[in-house]
Amino acid sequence: MLHAEPFASDEEYRRTYFDAWEAADLGSAKDVDRPLIAQLGGDDPHTILRAARILEPHVDAIDINFGCPTEDARRGGHNTHSPHCRRYGAYLLRDPQLVAKIVGTVAAGLRRVPVTAKIRLLPHRQATLELAMAIEEAGAAALCVHGRTIAQRPKYAERDGLGQSSLSPSWEAIADVRRSVNIPVISNGGIETRLEAVACLQQTGAAAVMSAEALLEDPALFSADRAGEVQADPQSDISRMLRLGREFLDLAETFTCPLKYPPTKSHLFKMLHRMIGADQATARRKEALVAARKSNSNAVLMILSLAICSEASYSEDFEMYSQVSLDEPEQELFVDIVISSARAAQCLVLDEVSPNNFCCKLLVPAYYAGGMIGKRGKNMTQIEKLTQTSMSMSGVDVFFPGTQDRMLTIFATTKRSFVNGVEAIVREMWRMSQQPGQAQQNHHFVVKLVVPNSAAGKIIGRDGSNTREMKRATGCRISISRRNPGIQERVVVLLASKDGCLVQGAVNVLECIQDDPHLHEHMDFKYDVELPLGCWDCGKPGPAEPDAELMTLEEARVLPKRCIVEHLMKAAPREILVRHRLLGGMRKILKVKTHDMILAALEEALRSIPDQNQDVERSKPHVSGMLPVGLLTNEP
Ligand SMILES: Cc1cc2nc3c(=O)[nH]c(=O)nc-3n(C[C@H](O)[C@H](O)[C@H](O)COP(=O)(O)O)c2cc1C
Repeated sequence: MLHAEPFASDEEYRRTYFDAWEAADLGSAKDVDRPLIAQLGGDDPHTILRAARILEPHVDAIDINFGCPTEDARRGGHNTHSPHCRRYGAYLLRDPQLVAKIVGTVAAGLRRVPVTAKIRLLPHRQATLELAMAIEEAGAAALCVHGRTIAQRPKYAERDGLGQSSLSPSWEAIADVRRSVNIPVISNGGIETRLEAVACLQQTGAAAVMSAEALLEDPALFSADRAGEVQADPQSDISRMLRLGREFLDLAETFTCPLKYPPTKSHLFKMLHRMIGADQATARRKEALVAARKSNSNAVLMILSLAICSEASYSEDFEMYSQVSLDEPEQELFVDIVISSARAAQCLVLDEVSPNNFCCKLLVPAYYAGGMIGKRGKNMTQIEKLTQTSMSMSGVDVFFPGTQDRMLTIFATTKRSFVNGVEAIVREMWRMSQQPGQAQQNHHFVVKLVVPNSAAGKIIGRDGSNTREMKRATGCRISISRRNPGIQERVVVLLASKDGCLVQGAVNVLECIQDDPHLHEHMDFKYDVELPLGCWDCGKPGPAEPDAELMTLEEARVLPKRCIVEHLMKAAPREILVRHRLLGGMRKILKVKTHDMILAALEEALRSIPDQNQDVERSKPHVSGMLPVGLLTNEP
């Protein structure tokens, strides 16, 4: 429905909400959606006529809405789009004279196309019949009757305390209307299958049927090969709906919607929600996903629908997607749908296409790399597909010099997919770091980026102004390593306690270096230098007493907690104290930290200092080189 008042007066409203200006010129050309009837809502006959005249050259008929029962209709939309309208839709039915005047004015004022009307039932049979006759007499060419009254609203049945039976549309009442007028009557309300459509035509004698809710849920409802029966095999119904979803998205991509937030996702949700067994509000909640995975055999659809209806961000879609495990053909379809729906919701807009690819190199700790790649590269391939990027990881034992980190490059042709790729990788590393037993669990997490020497100045900015600003904007600590001989690259270390901050930080730094003329020369994995481990440590404050030598683990095991903490406060790099929350009041530290937790901090401190590294038992994946220690270098 188009609101007559803004349509008659506001060019922008017209352009936004009506997109068939050329349809009439295309006439009966294939793929053109004709016949096209535009429906108007409003309460002023002349305003509606003005809007109808603008539409007349582009449509096949004008319909007037006397059926809408919403709150907006009750208020006339005057708070938003229609400042002068007092009510529209079904709220005009209590004034049959006004209804007739509107129909009469528009019918008399249009030359080329007919006028039709859509009504609901009135509480009394006779009043409905008189209304229908008045509409016919005023000049309507057809009448659509929704066989429910304004009080019968399935959506609010629970709120209004109405049982299912009292919500059923009355075909009998529609048949009465059909008998009382000579214009074609269209029957509407509660038609959910092809069989019901046929039965309704027979029982009411209507010229046609109209369906809304059920057709939104199953756009193939009336197709000849579906008799409307419930599918015997739920799995094949799921596949059918996924295929329909795919087809719908293809159409949505071909016939783009001018709205800022196209309703593509919500349409897809409608198509899937019945199988999922949850309404949209329920499905939107994250907890629903957890519950569904435990109890709902259609968990896959639940996840898909969450991905589809989530308005939050592409990354949420991705996160949910990554939890799905499907057979190959369904997996393909699933990925396709998530991508397309995200694109439709403008989360994946293909913008800022660059003739030179966007690219970057990240370091991935060796112990995360395998998991990120997945079995036979499956995980990485899916990330690439979903983010529309191209990624490569260096070989199993090909480390960035001076580290035990493998290298990962990301290439993308658009800025958006580049950002999505970086985000997916950072979140994936974060997710792995949060697995039980990982060294970084619940602590600050580090992401390392390799940048050309030539780009360092731009990242740092004048007197460090850029890194300071990025830190403020992203909540991420950013430090840049010193230079190392024989290598034209530096390592940017990002440190934060939240994955969102790290994503922001990484994206900010990497976006800022994309115009560096040497960036692309640094995307390979070949180096002729060998550097000592820890040579990239990049400049966070070291121990409070740099000369104090750390005690060994053996020494510490027999000491009370207080002694070890006091010792660490002097001899351990500050970064480690922060990560292990060993700063602040001693009483509190001793209360919350166990002996083992304090020993873990000592162990990490020992690892971070190359000379003492060999003393440490290597029971866990070590994080040496991950920790920014040493002097801060902000010189490019
Ligand atoms: C999402 C949605 C949008 C609708 N928009 C309109 C509208 O713009 N104009 C109108 O006359 N009816 C509108 N309706 C009402 C339907 O045309 C129909 O009268 C009602 O849903 C009852 O039919 P059903 O039981 O087949 O859903 C809408 C219904 C739905 C579900």
